[in-house]
Amino acid sequence: MVQINRGGNVPPPPPARRVPLIAGNWKMNLTVDESLALIDEMLEDLDAYEEVETVICPPFIALFPAMELVEDSGIKLGAQNMFYKDSGAYTGEISPLMLREVCDYVILGHSERRLYFNENDEDINLKVKAALKDDLTPIIAVGENLAQREDNLTAEIISNQVEIALNDVNAYDASSVVIAYEPLWAIGTGQAASAETANEVCKFIRQTIVRLYDQSVADRVRIQYGGSVNPANISDFMCESDIDGALVGGASLKAADFVKIVARTQECIPRKKK
Ligand code: PGA
Repeated sequence: MVQINRGGNVPPPPPARRVPLIAGNWKMNLTVDESLALIDEMLEDLDAYEEVETVICPPFIALFPAMELVEDSGIKLGAQNMFYKDSGAYTGEISPLMLREVCDYVILGHSERRLYFNENDEDINLKVKAALKDDLTPIIAVGENLAQREDNLTAEIISNQVEIALNDVNAYDASSVVIAYEPLWAIGTGQAASAETANEVCKFIRQTIVRLYDQSVADRVRIQYGGSVNPANISDFMCESDIDGALVGGASLKAADFVKIVARTQECIPRKKK
């Protein structure tokens, strides 16, 4: 039974506009040396786009040395996963307490975690609450597969994923999370969703937040699109009303492409549809 928790401190009033958030999900790619070289290659260029919040999510072992590299920049770091306990006999896992020393964000519930590592919505909810407790901002990934889309189940799948991920999360905390809409059929395929389709689902996610909490929480939550985002299609997504950023896989591994994605995101700010 999903519990809606409307308690907690009252969230601060919604900002005049949500700051766009571009996150690069490097997945299981690059050694530590290669990771640092890639960050070094793009850091200065990325840092020029101050109106965009940019997050790099390298493999765990690159986070600590990367911290020093990004220290004097506006670039933030994120992890790609974590366990929900702070410490204990959980061989091979990484805890939120460990992560908060080295990063600000953590991607939770990515479809590759759900698919290959059997994570379910309940696990993701435990991780979301653990991240929030330890001051990490979760980027909660949700999305339907192709068969579900063809069976018109997108809304049902997405609302269940969002609702369970936020089970027992109070309104104050909920207002700080990021949700990434990543349709499985668009991830790594080169076949991005159309901007209209992506915006429709992002808008639906926002309405789901209104239903679970209220409009002011929904107005604060940032919702990203992810799935084959590249420099050529980012502007289409970023001009849409309810898309507040992107979770970028493949294109975040190429310095020039990732910088262009961030640059075009900033250019879209004044052109955003209402
Ligand atoms: P992609 O991956 O940009 O390579 O499609 C996105 C993601 O999995 O977050």
